[in-house]
Amino acid sequence: MFITFEGPEGSGKSTQIPTLAEFLRAQGRRVLTTREPGGTEIGEQIRAVIHDLKNTAMHPHTETLLYQAARAQIVEQIIRPHLIAGGIVLCDRYADSTIAYQGYGHQQKLDDVRLLVRYATEGLKPDLTLLLDIDVETGLARKQGEEWNRLDAYAVDFHRRVRAGYRQMAREEPQRWVIIDASQPPEFVATAIRECVTGRV
Ligand code: TMP
Repeated sequence: MFITFEGPEGSGKSTQIPTLAEFLRAQGRRVLTTREPGGTEIGEQIRAVIHDLKNTAMHPHTETLLYQAARAQIVEQIIRPHLIAGGIVLCDRYADSTIAYQGYGHQQKLDDVRLLVRYATEGLKPDLTLLLDIDVETGLARKQGEEWNRLDAYAVDFHRRVRAGYRQMAREEPQRWVIIDASQPPEFVATAIRECVTGRV
């Protein structure tokens, strides 16, 4: 089973994933956790280039392609082999981040972006996507002081389009997406995630 975590900045994904992994491992399941962009040596190098605050001249097309380069590597090297071996993969961001950020955020043609995503993933889609939803101002405020990257520094309106994009995707594919209110205390969010995943694995 392939489970992805999505959400605007500061939604608490990186806190929740280890908690869910521990819960599933305690049930004897083989769980792999990873993150995008990154998760491989090559992907982490690409991540450093995309997120470097110095790279303000990066064109949205360059940004979109670099995310797909990192994704192609993690899909083939890490995610697909673990799924084929019967394990559960929990991934901190995946293809929907590209639709939300590069598609809705940068207002690029969604069909073009979807085509690139399909090429990078060879059509591998999550079985379940948890949208940790939080309003943009609260999320960005939470992220201050943590790893602040080039995308965090985009205008608030960009982040508002990203959030709206996520909610739109969740509406369009309700069988795959579950929206979790990430403004709740972390232990409430963890319970909501656990209940949702238990019902599906
Ligand atoms: P994070 O690890 O703190 O979530 O940072 C990842 C950043 O990269 C976040 O700002 C979202 C962004 N991102 C995209 O814009 N497109 C993508 O395809 C992915 C995977 C991430």
